[in-house]
Amino acid sequence: MFDLKSIRIQGGCPLNGTVRIQGSKNAALPMMAAAVLHRGTTVLHNCPRIADVSFMEKILRHLGARTSWKGNSLSLDCSCLQNTSIPAEYACQMRCSIILLGALLGRFGRGAIAPPGGCVIGKRPVDLHLSLLEAMGVHIEDENEMLKAYTSGLKGRIICFSRQSVGATEHGIIAAVLAQGTTCLENCAKEPEIVWLAEFLKGMGASVTGAGTERICIRGTEKLHDSEFTIPPDRIVAGTYLCAAAITRGRICLENPPVSELSAFLGIYGKMGGQYDVVGGKLIADASRAYGPVTRLETEVYPGFSTDLQSPVMAVLTLARGKSHIRENIFEDRFRTAQELVRMGAHIRLNGRDAYIDGVKRLSGCQVKAQELRGGAALILAGLAAQGETCVENFHLVERGYERIQEDIAALGGRAVVEE
Ligand code: EPZ
Repeated sequence: MFDLKSIRIQGGCPLNGTVRIQGSKNAALPMMAAAVLHRGTTVLHNCPRIADVSFMEKILRHLGARTSWKGNSLSLDCSCLQNTSIPAEYACQMRCSIILLGALLGRFGRGAIAPPGGCVIGKRPVDLHLSLLEAMGVHIEDENEMLKAYTSGLKGRIICFSRQSVGATEHGIIAAVLAQGTTCLENCAKEPEIVWLAEFLKGMGASVTGAGTERICIRGTEKLHDSEFTIPPDRIVAGTYLCAAAITRGRICLENPPVSELSAFLGIYGKMGGQYDVVGGKLIADASRAYGPVTRLETEVYPGFSTDLQSPVMAVLTLARGKSHIRENIFEDRFRTAQELVRMGAHIRLNGRDAYIDGVKRLSGCQVKAQELRGGAALILAGLAAQGETCVENFHLVERGYERIQEDIAALGGRAVVEE
């Protein structure tokens, strides 16, 4: 399925340079799924060419869509889809494919998908996704390892989520676009990617209000139209690169960061001693003194501190001058990368959802294994600061979300080579 790749990093030099932030993975994926709603063409500009996007593209082609790229512009022609079933090999690798079910049900009244399994960061159940569809008049059966769903027509409903879920909120919006009547979703997640999805859908002719708040209403429509949309910069990639500056005590410039989406992260970056200025849309960071510990960091739903930046910040804190504590409130198993950082000389003690990090003077480069996307990025950051050479295996996991990270590292003066 994946060619085993590694990335080899020479550590020890402070990053210095300018880098442009790629389009947002977590904005692009739900937009690609939503394109299935429309019997026509949707173009996504500034679309990151990363493994998760190409995986979603493969699923859309499996359904019958015609896709093509011009640079970072992805054209999706969903005029003649003839398949409504997503087999296991797709669903289990690409968890967020579950939201395609709502799009297929909206367009065809039926859809089937293998239940996406858990992953290394947690069980990641889909109960909120399935219950919202059932509330809208969908009948779902579990038939030999496939979730088969059908409806005589999605009906607008008032649905209150028992917990805030990014994917379930996106799924509810997508399912409601072609439903009969109005759907109001309550206790919604407020991540920026949900606001961007609503903007994208409105550009296709949908009627969505309240995105970014806990209550989102969608008035069902019959007709959508061709549209183009430019995907915003990726806030998690921007935060990752600021962590790269912090761990190497460097000074970098981010050309186009989504600063307004990074408030919680920038607060922590400041606590570590990082400084920055925003000038003309560019973020100029001086992380030469970003060696402060963080006595307590909790991951929260947006606008709190993002769970996706927990591992990159953990890497930075392994070299802080003091003790730090991270509590992971969103996923139950998102400390996998700690064991690899310990192999590099970090002092980290785990206890359930708590990680206690005693800063050390140095990390030593060695062979480590990425366990998942953001943890893999964290190991690359550690390699940039470690003495000697670090080889991060399972680099394909990092390529799921970072577009040519090795080129961005080079643009910032770092030394990283990808080996097939
Ligand atoms: C999205 O995942 C992101 N993925 C994740 O980014 C991100 O970490 C997560 O939101 C939280 O911000 C994409 O957008 C493609 P959730 P999602 O539903 O939607 C539980 C990355 O690194 N839950 O908000 O799957 C769930 O187990 C990825 O880019 C249920 O219990 O996250 C978790 O504990 C990783 N039942 C919590 O809710 C459900 O039906 C939040 O998950 C659904 C979720």
